[in-house]
Amino acid sequence: MSRLGIAVLGATGSVGRNALDVISRFPRRFRAAALCAGSDIRGLAALARVFRPDVVCLYDGNRGRLPREFPRGTRLLFGEEGMREAACAGNVDIVLAAASGVSSIRPVLSAAREGKRIALANKELLVMAGKFVTAAARRGKGEILPVDSEHSAVFQAIVGHRREDVRRILLTASGGPFRTHTTARMRSATVAQALGHPTWRMGAKISVDSATLMNKGLEVIEATWLFGLPPARIEVVIHPQSVVHSMVEFSDGSVMAQMGIPDMRIPIGYALSYPERLPLELPRLRPHRMQGLVFERPDRKRFPALRLAYAAARTGGSAPAVLNGANEEAVRAFLAGRIAFTDIVRIVDRVLSGWSETFAARSLQDVLAADAQARREALDRISRQRRHRPS
Ligand SMILES: NC(=O)c1ccc[n+]([C@@H]2O[C@H](COP(=O)([O-])OP(=O)(O)OC[C@H]3O[C@@H](n4cnc5c(N)ncnc54)[C@H](OP(=O)(O)O)[C@@H]3O)[C@@H](O)[C@H]2O)c1
Repeated sequence: MSRLGIAVLGATGSVGRNALDVISRFPRRFRAAALCAGSDIRGLAALARVFRPDVVCLYDGNRGRLPREFPRGTRLLFGEEGMREAACAGNVDIVLAAASGVSSIRPVLSAAREGKRIALANKELLVMAGKFVTAAARRGKGEILPVDSEHSAVFQAIVGHRREDVRRILLTASGGPFRTHTTARMRSATVAQALGHPTWRMGAKISVDSATLMNKGLEVIEATWLFGLPPARIEVVIHPQSVVHSMVEFSDGSVMAQMGIPDMRIPIGYALSYPERLPLELPRLRPHRMQGLVFERPDRKRFPALRLAYAAARTGGSAPAVLNGANEEAVRAFLAGRIAFTDIVRIVDRVLSGWSETFAARSLQDVLAADAQARREALDRISRQRRHRPS
């Protein structure tokens, strides 16, 4: 069997490094053909020395700043065009889309149009431009396989069943570090507390999104595109242990749940090897050590991000892009200590409810324009805030 070439977009990040761990465990099966990062040039060079890809790409960089540590013979590319070239290279079979933010949208669209398998971690791409990403995959006759653990769970539960028999999807959420906190207590939450996810180790942005539950809201929108269901048939269930990664209810009342330890290498490995499964040799789930599984209804009063995300999903068009763009800026401001934790969703709410333009999105350009406008409006609101003093 010839080795599958993987382009890892976001190689220096949490998902990227987990993916490289999976790739390194199966050297006869996978090869890191291309590695891309945002600006961490030294991190990328260190990975290039270990994995010896044909191509590396730094989105935010230029040739003059390159350290000498890149191995000889590695092609060095830059910017969006470089990422597109890396993702579409002839020896790339699978593109692992795990760069944060939306800068990889055009490279991922190009790769999907060429029929590459897209292993998708970067949910922002589907949230913003689900219509265009799914159309590109259809045109290329390729596939989009979810890497998000919840969507991987849904995918695994649906495989072998007819899509028309699916009644609803139950997306589980850990509830984050503030699951039992009052709104008043959340107002004084520090960055360190917001980053302290109870069950998963992830990048900073997604950890904060998990604390506001915006991550779950974005996942609801992601699921509408991946599984072709309206938001009303996708429910969120709080499940603090993160053992049941999600569930699917079928028309006969059967519910299929996918379970496992919380380790991203499992959904990443499945997206790379589907329809086969990799012998990952990770710690195993020990059901007899579990002390009951807890499921709760989410509290939309304390976590209004869910309400906003459902509203954006129902509105459609560029509304999810506005939600996502405003949220990214607000999370960045919180991480920089400029606003309080509870200001994040308040700012997103203000940007969405004050939106004076149309939400129509006929082209990717419309979506990107809405994203840029939402960011400007969020930044404007952030700069007008009184500076937050972290307690
Ligand atoms: N972490 C998880 O367990 C998890 C689970 C499900 C889904 N996801 C999704 O996966 C994505 C990555 O999450 P993460 O936690 O791995 O994030 P992370 O640890 O913050 O890593 C982000 C990666 O994206 C790269 N990047 C940033 N800006 C870029 C740009 N403009 N162009 C190209 N690459 C860029 C970063 O490169 P530099 O290091 O150079 O900045 C880094 O490699 C997100 O969309 C997240 O929602 C993550």
